[in-house]
Amino acid sequence: MKICNIVGARPQIIKAAALSRAIKEIYNSQIQDIIIHTGQHYDINMSDVFFNEMGIPTPTENLGIGSASHSIQTARMIEKIEEILLKYKPHVVVLYGDTNSTLAASISAIKMNIPVAHIEAGLRSFNKKMPEEINRIVCDHSSTLLFSPTITGLRNLQNEGFHLDSLPPYTADNPAVYLSGDIMYDNSIFYRDKAVKLSNVIERLELKDKKFILTTIHRNTNTDEPERLKEIIEKMNAIATSTNYTVVFPIHPRTKKLIKEFDLTFLLKNIKVIEPLSFFDMIVMENAASLILTDSGGVQKEAYFYHKPCIIMRKETEWIEILQAGAGALEPQTIDEFTALVQRFINNPPSKFPAYFGDGQTAKFICEKLLLFNKYQS
Ligand code: UD1
Repeated sequence: MKICNIVGARPQIIKAAALSRAIKEIYNSQIQDIIIHTGQHYDINMSDVFFNEMGIPTPTENLGIGSASHSIQTARMIEKIEEILLKYKPHVVVLYGDTNSTLAASISAIKMNIPVAHIEAGLRSFNKKMPEEINRIVCDHSSTLLFSPTITGLRNLQNEGFHLDSLPPYTADNPAVYLSGDIMYDNSIFYRDKAVKLSNVIERLELKDKKFILTTIHRNTNTDEPERLKEIIEKMNAIATSTNYTVVFPIHPRTKKLIKEFDLTFLLKNIKVIEPLSFFDMIVMENAASLILTDSGGVQKEAYFYHKPCIIMRKETEWIEILQAGAGALEPQTIDEFTALVQRFINNPPSKFPAYFGDGQTAKFICEKLLLFNKYQS
C-alpha cells in the first residue's frame, strides 16, 4: 500500500514521526511511506531539527512553499500538491491536524478522488475566526478515514452528520470514523527517557535548581492585535514580578516579528525569551516546569501527558478533557484573577489525569485501519 504523508508545520512533523516509526518497525513490507513536506515551516529550528532528532526519513519531496498570506500560501500548495499526487499516485493521502498544509492537501486529494485519512479528526473550537477551525472542517468533510483522538471529537463529527457505524466500502460520502487515541501521546511516551538523557537544555539555559513557568504563544487570535498581545505579555510579566519563578518563553518567529512591529519588546525585560526549542528540549522543559502557559493545542496536551498544570491562553479549547479533569483552565480575564490562578496551580497542583488520550499505540491502530481499508478497496 502506498501512502503520501503530507506535512508542513512543526506539529505535523512530530505527529508524522509516530506513524513513520510504526511503519518502519512493524509494517515496512506492507506500507510504502512517502513523506511530502510543503515547506510551510522552513527555519531550521521550526522544521529540520525535528526530522533529525526524531529520526524521521528525509521527505521524498519538499515543495518549498514558505510564508505568504493564507490564501496565497494555500493556493500555491494546492497547485504543487496536485502535481505530486499525479506523480506518486498514492492509495491514501494521510493528513494531520489543522494547518494550511492540511487544508491544501485535502482539497487537492478530494478533487483527484484520492482517499484522505485525517489524523486528529473531529476537533472543534467553534470559533471560525481561527484559521485552523476552517482547515479542520474542510479536511474532515473531505476525508474517507477519520481518526478522532477523543470521544469529544467523535461527538462533534456525529453532530455534523457523520455516522459512527458506517460499513465498507468506505468513500468520502460513506466515511469510516474511528476513535484512535492521540498520536502525540505515542511520541510523548516513546521519547521522554531519550530526551532526558540527550538534552542539556536545563544546563544550557541556566535553569538548574530554578523553578520556572514555561510559556508559548503563537495563535493568530493572540498575536495579530497589538492590544491582545500586550495583554498577554503583561500577564506574563505580572507572574515574573510577583513570584520567584522564572518565566521562560521560547518564541515563535511570527510572535517575535509582531512584538517588534508593535513596539512591545520593552515589556519582555523580566522574561527569559529564547529561540524555539527542539522536540527533545521541549519535552525536558515541560517535565521540569512547575506550570505551563500556552495557546498551542499540542503543548496543552503534553502538559497533561506529563501531569503538569496548564493555563490555556485562549477563550476556548478543543481539548475540553483537560478542563474536565481539572488539570488545566482557560485564561482568566483580569490580571488579579490570572495571578491568583497561577498561585493556585503552583501551590496545589492537580493530581488527576485520567487516560482520555488513549494508550500510546495510536500509530499502530491507524496503520491497521489503513491496511484494512486497502484490502476492502482491492
Ligand atoms: C502554523 C499553523 C498553526 C500551527 C503552527 C505551529 C496554519 C494556519 N497555522 O502557524 O495551526 O499551530 O503552524 O507552529 O497553518 N515563520 C518563520 N519561519 C518558519 C515558519 C514561519 O519565520 O519556519 C514566520 C513567518 O513570518 C510566517 C509566519 O511565521 O509568515 C507564519 O507562519 P505559518 O506557517 O503561516 O503559520 P504559523 O503561525 O506557524
